[in-house]
Amino acid sequence: MAEMGPSRTAQRVAAHRVEYARIDGGFGRPANAETLERDVAGDVEIRREGMHRYLEARTTFFDRCVVDAILTGVDQVVVLGAGYDGRSLRYARDGVRFFEVDLAATQHDKLARLKRLGVETSGVTFVPADFARDDVGSMLVAAGLDLRATLFALEGVVAYLDDATLRSLLDGIAAVAAPGSALAVSVGVDRDEADHDAADRAAAFRTAVDGLGEPVRSELAGDGARELLEACGWSPEASDLGGDGQLGLVRARRR
Ligand SMILES: C[S@@+](CC[C@H](N)C(=O)[O-])C[C@H]1O[C@@H](n2cnc3c(N)ncnc32)[C@H](O)[C@@H]1O
Repeated sequence: MAEMGPSRTAQRVAAHRVEYARIDGGFGRPANAETLERDVAGDVEIRREGMHRYLEARTTFFDRCVVDAILTGVDQVVVLGAGYDGRSLRYARDGVRFFEVDLAATQHDKLARLKRLGVETSGVTFVPADFARDDVGSMLVAAGLDLRATLFALEGVVAYLDDATLRSLLDGIAAVAAPGSALAVSVGVDRDEADHDAADRAAAFRTAVDGLGEPVRSELAGDGARELLEACGWSPEASDLGGDGQLGLVRARRR
């Protein structure tokens, strides 16, 4: 990927997310997460339409995955393509380590904001990496990831990776995912060819993110997503977490 500035798609997600009710884990520093999210949201204007509702369901799904993992004893959470996601603060807990991975420009901007805002980040390890070039699994281990059950989260990132990059990322994290590990991932949804509204929405999304300098590089959905996850060692499981397949929200177990 060409060098670019802090991710504008990630800033936009933060601007939407600041408006949602969030799952309360009964632990963590949600006020710190909100301080960050509000700073990032700034004066970014959003429309409260279909994308806003989709991102709300997606946010709830990932919140649930993180909280459930921590409450069931998982003590490592890896947030891949973290952008301005504040879950490492919102769901901070003694004994739980979060790893955040993103391109350096976005991560540096996030760290600068956190410093300016006086938000402490103990419990979070920041790993700058480019999924298109770097061996993320090895970098995580070098950064302190232990080979024990871990939750990996890949939210709103897949579309920005080409097929080869996505495959090597899924393989790479599987290589360091001990038994009991899980992956929460958002993918696309299969579109009915006859659904012109859905086609228009997809085209509008492509145009919008292209305009932000972060073009869509792949369109993984449905059976294709299931097959790729299986091929990379991840078994998708049925979910009652509100990610009803229709939304392309998937939780998978390391085989
Ligand atoms: C739409 S944002 C989602 C951010 C975050 N997951 C969230 O839901 O708030 C996509 C993120 O993927 C990151 N990203 C895109 N391509 C990447 C790459 N090749 N390597 C690492 N991160 C990448 C971007 O920097 C950005 O933070």
